Amino acid sequence: MTKSGGVHKAVVPAAGLGTRFLPATKATPKEMLPVVDKPAIQYVVEEAVAAGLDDVLFITGRSKRPLEDHFDRNLELEHALDSKGDHHRLQLVNESTDLARIHYVRQGDPLGLGHAVLMAEHHVGHEPFAVLLGDDLIDPRDPILPRMMQVRQAHGGSVIALMEVPRESIALYGCPATEPTDELDAVLVTDLVEKPDPADAPSTFAVIGRYVLDPAVFAVLRQTAPGRGGEIQLTDALRVLATMPAGEGGGVRGVVFSGRRYDTGDRLSYLQASIMIACEREDLGPALRDWLRGFVASAEFADEPAARSGSDAGGPVR
Ligand code: UTP
Repeated sequence: MTKSGGVHKAVVPAAGLGTRFLPATKATPKEMLPVVDKPAIQYVVEEAVAAGLDDVLFITGRSKRPLEDHFDRNLELEHALDSKGDHHRLQLVNESTDLARIHYVRQGDPLGLGHAVLMAEHHVGHEPFAVLLGDDLIDPRDPILPRMMQVRQAHGGSVIALMEVPRESIALYGCPATEPTDELDAVLVTDLVEKPDPADAPSTFAVIGRYVLDPAVFAVLRQTAPGRGGEIQLTDALRVLATMPAGEGGGVRGVVFSGRRYDTGDRLSYLQASIMIACEREDLGPALRDWLRGFVASAEFADEPAARSGSDAGGPVR
């Protein structure tokens, strides 16, 4: 079996409006917001490349320029760094350019994630392919794509990534009905529902932003009417695939992810990702940890009422 199990292409949808992050995303795609010192989307492309996917298609929308520029050469910057002899920064600038063969297709109107994936049909053709959501950051130490591609290789059909979440949070995610398989980390998906009411949710598995899809998804997406929020939902197409016969590209399995993952499209999760990743970096970690310890122990960090009442719950009051 090849490293990527017959999957060669990665599709990265990055055409959403990013409304949760306005005004930062007014003229910049949210996927370009930096996590420490790299745009979130570069981590995602690095993950695809590490899994053996050397062909990356971005689905872009308005304000795609910063994205294109980031993965293109910047001769002026290269020249300036070269003439200063700053080879370290020169290497950083070139990293994103040399990562993979990058392609772009424009979504036009952001009619939903399913619609964004449909835009990849011409480029992908008849092969299975991976979809990585540009604002979903999986820690490189906990890769999931290789396992998903292994499951696709063994069983065919499509594979989605699932994460166990508290029942009250399930309303934020797509949620599958599942049956166990004889593999501990994999389940059979029998149905799916987008953002269910916690009381009605068929499981406490949340669908997270990694997919390995059979090309049969395109024909299904073409027939998929706008669903929740007036958008063409990938979840609705997966639901159809889950009930289709294997001979027609149907069948959906889920791989359960239990590693570290951050939603960089959500402001709180974005801040957490930045802090955690910076804390683990050799260059920034020691100083940031020191500062954090002091900050957590300080009066500024304490809840206002506690600080006012002189409580020592938050540490010494200055
Ligand atoms: P989200 O629902 O998280 O993105 O879509 P959004 O709509 O930009 O976010 P908010 O809620 O307004 O802040 C998940 C992924 O699908 C892409 C997004 O760019 C993101 O990577 N997407 C979504 C598209 O490419 N096109 C769409 O029409 C919708």
